[in-house]
Amino acid sequence: MTSTRSGVGEATQPSVEEIQRAVALAVRAPSIHNTQPWRFVLTADALELWADRQRQLAAVDPDGWALLISCGGALYLAGLGLSAEGWRTTTERLPDSTRPDLLARLHFDGRQPVDGNVDEAVAAAGRRRTERRPFRPGVVSTDLLHVLRAGVDDPSLYASLVLRADDRLNLAVAMSWADDLETNDPAYRAELATWVRPDAAAAGEGISPTAVPRTSPGQPRHTDVPVRDFAAGDPTSTAIRGGQVIDEQPAYVVLFSLDDDDAARLRAGEAYARLSVDAERLGLATSAMTQALDLPGVRTRVRTLMTWLDHPQMILRVGWPPAVDPAPRTPRRPVAAVLTTTRSNLA
Ligand SMILES: Cc1cc2nc3c(=O)[nH]c(=O)nc-3n(C[C@H](O)[C@H](O)[C@H](O)COP(=O)(O)O)c2cc1C
Repeated sequence: MTSTRSGVGEATQPSVEEIQRAVALAVRAPSIHNTQPWRFVLTADALELWADRQRQLAAVDPDGWALLISCGGALYLAGLGLSAEGWRTTTERLPDSTRPDLLARLHFDGRQPVDGNVDEAVAAAGRRRTERRPFRPGVVSTDLLHVLRAGVDDPSLYASLVLRADDRLNLAVAMSWADDLETNDPAYRAELATWVRPDAAAAGEGISPTAVPRTSPGQPRHTDVPVRDFAAGDPTSTAIRGGQVIDEQPAYVVLFSLDDDDAARLRAGEAYARLSVDAERLGLATSAMTQALDLPGVRTRVRTLMTWLDHPQMILRVGWPPAVDPAPRTPRRPVAAVLTTTRSNLA
């Protein structure tokens, strides 16, 4: 089913309001510690995406890998937002080697009818969130996971499932080892403490402590591969570790790229955002768990341990959302804080 938006056939460029709505969707992208390391510039003929290096995290993201994944998500959602406004776009990635922080240009290629699929994806993008609470028990069928994998339609990327018991064990070992390495680093803990903040909603950035489940001595978390411990260093919280009793059965989806450069990471970020939106449409919940990928040296070792031939860019936990209220929606900075223009008419 398709529909047209008002003004079809008239304008050759999106209006400022259309751009603002597209950017409002783009900023819903997942980002490391909800740092939102991006900015957008509306030029005469394109919407540009720039890396905001001031928001790159020194301890958890020394080589800017997470920044690029995060920005890739914003790029995917900006394109989706423009489609929802009735604009066809083409994406030019890393268009200027002398300006590496100019990550992409979305060019406007004229108007097109809006597919009902696009509207559904936009609605799901508004609902999606990182679900860190234990999933509802219940296996996600391999068929459903294959539907999700098929959404990765970029030939330079693919998503794989970690299914074999020995691979899951190796993943658990790798994740625990990487997690220990990070949580024992005072700089990592200090950085985490500034981004997990009670005033996240007012600040429009960071992670509210309510979005991060804590364990207590009487209620350990039962899972096989440890999730990131956002309370690292807090003596009142028991570390979240794999336990003897496993009562959630997440699927683990790893997103691989054939190359390992900035373009591959940007594309992987686009695919991650799309996967999380598609999962939401299928009624599934996702959370990134990237302790094993944050640091370049650890990434390399984990790749060897897992005998992965290609380059892991994202590890996702996928499962059925808990049968309680949805997790609180994480805040975002306002569009005005991330969008500027070289056009003269941006309000
Ligand atoms: C590169 C990258 C790595 C991430 N790693 C983790 C992680 O290890 N654990 C986790 O719980 N969330 C992780 N996240 C999810 C972010 O914390 C989350 O996207 C952000 O807080 C915004 O919340 P939302 O996804 O609910 O909108 C990661 C996100 C990105 C883009």
